[in-house]
Formats: sequence, C-alpha cells, structure tokens
Amino acid sequence: MSEVDDTLSMELREIEAVATESDDILVSVDFSGVNFKDTMVAAPKSRVRRVASLVGGVDAAGTVVDSNDHSLPVGTRVAVHGGALGVARDGGFAQFIYSPIRYVTPLPDSVTTRIAMIIGTAGFTAMESLLALEDHGLEKGSEVLVTGATGGVGSQAVAFLAATGYRPVASTGSPSESPWLLERGAVRVIGRDDVADNPGRVLASETWAGAIDCVGGETLAHILRSLRYGAAVAASGLVASAELATTVFPFITRSVALLGIDSVEASMATRARVWSALGAITSRIDFEGLLDREVQLEELTSALHDVRDGKTRGRILVNPTPG
Ligand SMILES: NC(=O)c1ccc[n+]([C@@H]2O[C@H](COP(=O)([O-])OP(=O)(O)OC[C@H]3O[C@@H](n4cnc5c(N)ncnc54)[C@H](OP(=O)(O)O)[C@@H]3O)[C@@H](O)[C@H]2O)c1
Repeated sequence: MSEVDDTLSMELREIEAVATESDDILVSVDFSGVNFKDTMVAAPKSRVRRVASLVGGVDAAGTVVDSNDHSLPVGTRVAVHGGALGVARDGGFAQFIYSPIRYVTPLPDSVTTRIAMIIGTAGFTAMESLLALEDHGLEKGSEVLVTGATGGVGSQAVAFLAATGYRPVASTGSPSESPWLLERGAVRVIGRDDVADNPGRVLASETWAGAIDCVGGETLAHILRSLRYGAAVAASGLVASAELATTVFPFITRSVALLGIDSVEASMATRARVWSALGAITSRIDFEGLLDREVQLEELTSALHDVRDGKTRGRILVNPTPG
C-alpha cells in the first residue's frame, strides 16, 4: 500500500507467501473481506499499520494446503483472522496466506468460505458482542440497541439478534437505509442523533436492556446513561471517536456494565465458541442480503475508499481468484 495525501491506494503485485514461523499454516484463500480496520491500515501516516508496506486484509477464509498440525489437516476449511494479519504481516488480500495456528479456526459444516467472509471480522465481532451480552444475563425478547447499524458489525448484529430471539433497534446515520435494516430484522430504526449525548445530564431515562456499539465517543457515553438497571453495552469500535467522557454514575447507581470486545486476540476457545454460534444460525440468516458487493483485487482501492467514507451498507467480499 502507498500513501498519497488522504488517498488510500493499493498496488497489485505478484509476490510469494512467506511463513514467519516453521509451524505456520498455509491457506489457499477463497475470499477475504473489507473491514474498517483495513482502511486504517491503508491510511496515510497510519498508526495501525506496523510495517512500511504489506499485503492488506485482516481476514480470509479458504482451505488448508500445508500444515504440520494434526488438528488442522490439509483440506480443512478455515477462517483466518486476528493477530498481526493485515497489520504487521501479510494478510488476506491474496491467493495464499500463512498464519500461526492460533488465528486459524475450522469452519462449522454449515458455514461456507463465502459465508465466512461475508461474516468476516465484523460479523465475528457482532456475535462475540451478542454472546458477551448473553453471558451478562440479557433476556430473550429484550430490545437491544445497535449503533452504526448499516456497517459490517452493526448490520450483522441486527441480523444475529433478530435470529436469536431479541428485538434489535437499529441506530443509523443513513435514514434512507431504514427499509434495508427492517429487512435484516430490526424492529425499528432510529437516527444517529437519537443516540447523541447530553453532557448536561448525568443519567438519561432507562431505555435499553442491552446495546452493541461500534461507534464509541459520545454515542457510547449516551448509551451508558440510558441503559436499564443492571444492563450492559458491548463496545467494540471507534468510528466516531476513541474518546470516552463519562461519569461513574451509570456504574454506581444503575449497576450497568461496559463490556470490552476484542476479536484480534480472542482465544482459540472464544474463536471456536463464536464460530460455532455462527454455524448454529447460518440457516436463519440471509447472508447475501448482508452483502454490499463482491470485488476483485483490482477493485480494492475504490472499495477501501467507500468503506472509509461510509458509502457502503453491510459487507464487501473480496474474491482474489482472477475472474
Ligand atoms: N474490537 C474489535 O475486535 C473490532 C472488530 C471489528 C471492527 N471493530 C471496529 O468496529 C468499528 C466498525 O467496524 P465495521 O467494519 O463495522 O465498519 P463499517 O462497516 O465502516 O461500519 C461503521 C458504521 O458506523 C457508522 N458511522 C460511520 N461514521 C460514523 C460517525 N462519525 N459517527 C457515528 N456513526 C458513524 C456508519 O453506520 P450508519 O450510517 O448506519 O450510522 C457505518 O456504516 C470500527 O471502529 C472497527 O475498527 C473492532
């Protein structure tokens, strides 16, 4: 990737996949996806990218073609995401990748490699968030707020909540996408400004039984003020801001919880649990309906700009096989 002003650009080159450890798993990539983090890696003066240049792509799905590990034999269909993939070592925007075994998870039978990358890191994070809320005691049938709802994490959070017996309320800055969000399973759609902060008030009315937030900043501060007694928000992102200005009152007077969600260093046990939960609901989700579009490697530059500029809804699937 190279840097010109604020333009994200990618160069298509033929290079050899490189193993960093002798026990790295080699995967033939069927699909990758474009994640918000990929745009941060490709940004000029990126503080996320940890090397001068690399093959981008923080996730991929495909088939194991070389492995010394008996638990991941050749032919296993897998998802690969996390660690330094696409950040400090070559990632999924390629036909082959090497990865340490810790970031490679066998896919459930019901999850094709195509579905796995429509899900991608974003959908994995959405399910990880949902499971964290359930572990915290979220009750079936409750209304759960989802912010950034037309994005990768948000749209899949809406679909997964609806498919598992909850009532997702989608917050979006793209009101024209309301019909699409209702089709994905939202019970209602509210504006981004409806989840705006009112710093003059320490607490807002008790509204949400739970929330999945990938926006951060004032949005997350407002959610904390408006959770019901004992409820939790699963926070994974920072599209609006990495800052969080709040008081301790939501925590000490309403016993609310702020659950941090990280997919990057999720343990192998967590990965297995999340992919298994995703496998269990695959037949209930219209994954193609969650797709913005499928692109080839040559089209990645415009795809990255569209994600950075918020011009997409759902996911962009990357197919590295020349068409
Ligand atoms: N913790 C983890 O492991 C993890 C994993 C995956 C992603 N993430 C983070 O989660 C966030 C979302 O990722 P993603 O892949 O879903 O990104 P995405 O597809 O770009 O979606 C983000 C959505 O947020 C909303 N949005 C954009 N700019 C906003 C702003 N200034 N204020 C409020 N809302 C805004 C938009 O939805 P609407 O138009 O519908 O409002 C947009 O579609 C990113 O910060 C990403 O780094 C974290």
